[in-house]
Amino acid sequence: MRPGTSKAWIATFVVVAGTLATSACTDETIVFRDRELFETPVAAAAGFVGYTDETTKLTVCGNCHVGPQSQWEESGHADAWDGLQDSGHAQEFCESCHTVSELGNVATGTAGYSATAEDRYHDVQCESCHGPGLDHVTNPSDPNIPLAPMDVSVDGTLGCGECHQGSHHPFAEEWAQSGHGDMYAGAQGRSACQSCHTGEGALNAFGVSDPYIEKGGDAQGNHFNITCAVCHDPHGSDFTAQLRYSIDVADEDQNLCMKCHHKRGIPDPTSFRGPHSPQGPLLIGDAGWWPPNLDIQGDIVATHGSDANPGLCAGCHVNSYEVTDAATGEFVVNATGHRFLATPCVDANGAPTTDQDCAEGEKNYEGCAVAGCHGSAQGASAANQVAQLRLTTLAAEIDRLVALVPATEFDSGDNRYTTGEGAKFNAGFAGFAGSASHNPFLVEALMIASIEQLKTEYGLAVTAEVSMQRQLVPGGALR
Ligand code: HEC
Ligand code: HEC
Ligand code: HEC
Ligand code: HEC
Ligand code: HEC
Ligand code: HEC
Ligand code: HEC
Ligand code: HEC
Repeated sequence: MRPGTSKAWIATFVVVAGTLATSACTDETIVFRDRELFETPVAAAAGFVGYTDETTKLTVCGNCHVGPQSQWEESGHADAWDGLQDSGHAQEFCESCHTVSELGNVATGTAGYSATAEDRYHDVQCESCHGPGLDHVTNPSDPNIPLAPMDVSVDGTLGCGECHQGSHHPFAEEWAQSGHGDMYAGAQGRSACQSCHTGEGALNAFGVSDPYIEKGGDAQGNHFNITCAVCHDPHGSDFTAQLRYSIDVADEDQNLCMKCHHKRGIPDPTSFRGPHSPQGPLLIGDAGWWPPNLDIQGDIVATHGSDANPGLCAGCHVNSYEVTDAATGEFVVNATGHRFLATPCVDANGAPTTDQDCAEGEKNYEGCAVAGCHGSAQGASAANQVAQLRLTTLAAEIDRLVALVPATEFDSGDNRYTTGEGAKFNAGFAGFAGSASHNPFLVEALMIASIEQLKTEYGLAVTAEVSMQRQLVPGGALR
């Protein structure tokens, strides 16, 4: 060991290929070759080790953890330094987010690249999330393993949000204002709800049993929201934008959004409850109680759930666009789509407003026209309102009729699923924001059939003004 530059070494197995290939009878030679893992970082690096070899993108960590290494190599993070240089706008202030630094992990104060400007810290490497690895690398069996956080801070103290924020890419800021970043607390403490309403529950349901900082739990029961790394695989994936699952497959077991957005789209005969996050089943077209007389005529899959909208849920709910100042044309902000709003309320420049409490007529339907589905934003807005009005009218009629059905028909413990119960369930779709977009055709058909069934079964009379003809058909008036 040279003074001042202590080295860590790793034993790698090198099979001498020639021997193997020429004759299986010859002895195979396995050579243990000591390879230099890294040079001891200077003290100012604060324990970050960075690359073993930048040109081959071999991280020090990746010498041992070959799985994460090979996944990560293919991700955008492994290309962050070149991306910055190739932009033609590189300057010092840009660098800490495009390198291994104190950003994204437990380190505070300058560290890694910010402290040393050494090439070994180029790119968003393992330690950007896991934190300084020197202690672990020199003593891998030490239980103090560098773990990455699942939490996202928007104030710049931990996690993906330390880099993925600011007006050029305000992912963390938008996410924090979305339902995924501000979960309904009432469901977080209950085990039956956690697989969708907490981050750790979702990861368990996805089969991610790997360690992360919050996994050990805390006094509050350790709940975190649907954070970035719940949807995105931190190491990279075969899907677009490093997502853990596909967004373009119309299947509840495979589609990222539908994995949670499908709790009760089909009635549970033992429960009196109505629909609960029925968006997946609606879009696919298998939602609801199907009365015996239902004639669905083959168009139950909404046009929104078909090839016309390949991004499915994300196609409408995750759209990024640049916002410029109306007066000067100057850049204002990149809207990242991480508020997950399909038709956002926007300010004068077109940026999503914080409160989102505008009137229907002021919502932005541009996304619907861009996809080429609707002739114009106004057309899409009008179509949505026509559909919503129709669903509200039918639901009101079902509510009126259901009130005339004997109470004994609504006993969830009697092992019967009655027409009264089914009709009530179907009317519930009309009250969900978005049903008129998710599948107005199916919901209308379900409600008409429910009303017919209520008529037949309980001898009730339908109000003459309510048409029993299907009015919502793909295309036509809904363009
Ligand atoms: C010299 C080989 C070696 C290097 C280099 C190395 N590790 Fe490890 N790492 C290990 C071993 C061995 C374990 C298992 C320790 C145990 O189970 O007690 C481990 C465990 C881990 C774990 C926990 C895995 C689990 O499933 O429990 C994480 C996370 C981790 N290392 C991250 C890193 C990071 C980040 C780096 C780079 C800073 C790194 N490692 C570098 C050998 C290494
Ligand atoms: C040290 C800063 C930093 C941290 C921490 C960080 N990122 Fe990134 N991320 C970047 C940069 C820079 C890029 C752009 C890289 C490029 O494409 O050149 C990027 C790109 C991405 C992309 C786009 C990849 C693609 O192929 O389109 C995703 C998704 C992403 N990051 C997710 C995450 C998640 C999730 C976390 C936290 C678990 C995270 N990032 C943590 C800086 C960071
Ligand atoms: C606050 C952290 C941060 C700073 C500072 C920062 N970036 Fe980035 N940069 C990111 C993140 C995060 C992404 C990925 C965003 C995405 O995928 O939408 C990114 C993406 C990029 C990309 C696209 C990469 C690619 O390969 O497609 C370029 C180019 C870029 N940044 C250049 C710059 C320049 C130039 C500066 C300085 C003027 C800068 N960045 C400053 C965090 C930062
Ligand atoms: C963008 C942030 C991020 C980056 C970059 C990253 N990790 Fe991770 N890593 C995580 C998170 C979060 C977890 C825990 C959850 C999970 O596995 O999805 C994790 C889990 C792990 C684990 C334990 C599970 C396993 O897969 O064996 C190891 C080991 C690991 N990372 C090593 C690495 C190595 C090596 C690199 C670089 C080649 C790396 N990580 C890059 C965030 C990151
Ligand atoms: C509910 C799931 C979900 C959560 C939570 C989530 N994302 Fe995403 N993210 C997506 C989807 C879907 C896309 C778009 C994929 C597409 O259309 O290609 C995306 C795209 C991205 C991209 C690529 C954007 C581009 O222009 O290339 C980045 C970077 C990103 N997300 C970062 C983050 C960060 C950082 C967080 C946490 C603050 C986060 N995401 C939280 C689902 C999610
Ligand atoms: C891990 C489970 C999970 C995944 C994956 C998921 N969601 Fe959610 N989502 C939820 C839960 C739970 C809520 C309700 C949050 C609350 O208000 O308590 C929600 C809320 C929403 C909302 C209402 C937002 C608001 O601000 O009120 C929309 C829209 C949404 N999700 C769309 C999506 C889309 C699009 C995807 C896929 C890109 C997706 N979700 C993926 C669980 C998930
Ligand atoms: C299979 C996934 C899943 C399970 C399990 C689940 N939910 Fe949900 N829940 C969702 C999704 C997704 C949403 C957001 C979409 C919506 O509002 O339709 C949601 C929305 C809600 C809302 C409305 C939140 C709001 O802010 O508007 C409440 C309340 C709720 N759930 C309570 C519960 C309770 C209580 C449990 C456990 C008894 C539970 N959920 C179990 C997926 C689930
Ligand atoms: C054709 C576009 C489109 C598609 C595809 C789509 N949505 Fe929607 N979604 C909407 C519209 C429009 C609304 C109503 C927004 C409003 O009322 O401001 C909505 C509302 C919602 C809401 C209620 C939001 C709230 O504020 O309470 C949730 C949750 C939701 N969608 C989730 C999903 C999920 C999950 C998928 C995929 C299964 C999906 N959406 C597919 C357009 C779409």
